[in-house]
Amino acid sequence: MKTSRPRQYWNDYASRFKNRSLAETYELRPPYPDETYKIILNLFRDSRARVLDVGCGTGKIARALVDHVDGVDAVDFSQEMIQVGKSLVNGDHPNLRWINGPVEEVQLYPPYQMVTAAASIHWMEWNVVFPRFKEVLMPDGHLVIIDGDRPIEAPWHDAELSLIRRYSTNRHHEQIDLIQELVNRGHLHLIGDKKTTPVSFSQSLTDYVQSFHSRESMSKEHMGEKNVKAFDSELSHILSEFVGDEGFLTFQLEARVTWGRPLT
Ligand SMILES: C[S@@+](CC[C@H](N)C(=O)[O-])C[C@H]1O[C@@H](n2cnc3c(N)ncnc32)[C@H](O)[C@@H]1O
Repeated sequence: MKTSRPRQYWNDYASRFKNRSLAETYELRPPYPDETYKIILNLFRDSRARVLDVGCGTGKIARALVDHVDGVDAVDFSQEMIQVGKSLVNGDHPNLRWINGPVEEVQLYPPYQMVTAAASIHWMEWNVVFPRFKEVLMPDGHLVIIDGDRPIEAPWHDAELSLIRRYSTNRHHEQIDLIQELVNRGHLHLIGDKKTTPVSFSQSLTDYVQSFHSRESMSKEHMGEKNVKAFDSELSHILSEFVGDEGFLTFQLEARVTWGRPLT
């Protein structure tokens, strides 16, 4: 088994989420389609389930689940992300417990019927967290990996991607099929894999452009003021021909929900 995670996911990049500027722009990222939550909820056998949401960020998944389960423990090592999450819908729900710290180390409160990891598992120390998930999950519990807060098949995709490559501050980026990588490394026993039906989503051009600064590779601190300005202006220019009358962009969203059992 390979021991080291791909370089692009190491902690020097992951810890950028501790910056306030990422947390402040995080809500501008497109949402997961509603069907995402239906797929997750269908996996529960027991409505009195307890869930552990790891790398919860502002709690997109955790806050959406709290009304449907007995409790959600939401873990993130970014105090700033949790702070924003607390101010959002269901952020102070009695079923929600925010836990600030690295998921590799913080105290957890098992047993859990499900561990959810949305846009986050790649950032964690796999050799530590997979055994930990196995330990805290009930024997029939699932690890659920969620991905998909970017447009799919947008007509501006290629131009946007080459711009991102020019400005990205993650110098180790490589294209990886994360699920395949986790299976190949013996961390995940795959049970199910589903894509949501694409849905249409509209967002103002300004919000769409700003949402990029919630991504670690495009954080304002690491890009610097000059590059932030240049990137924003070039991206706005690329997108200008796709903007509707009200200054909104419309694009398709699709999430991938994968579930299985963690392996030690
Ligand atoms: C891209 S955000 C995803 C947030 C949320 N799950 C969502 O889907 O919107 C990744 C989050 O993982 C957190 N994170 C990364 N590594 C972590 C670790 N080892 N322990 C706890 N949180 C971690 C970051 O602070 C960040 O908030």
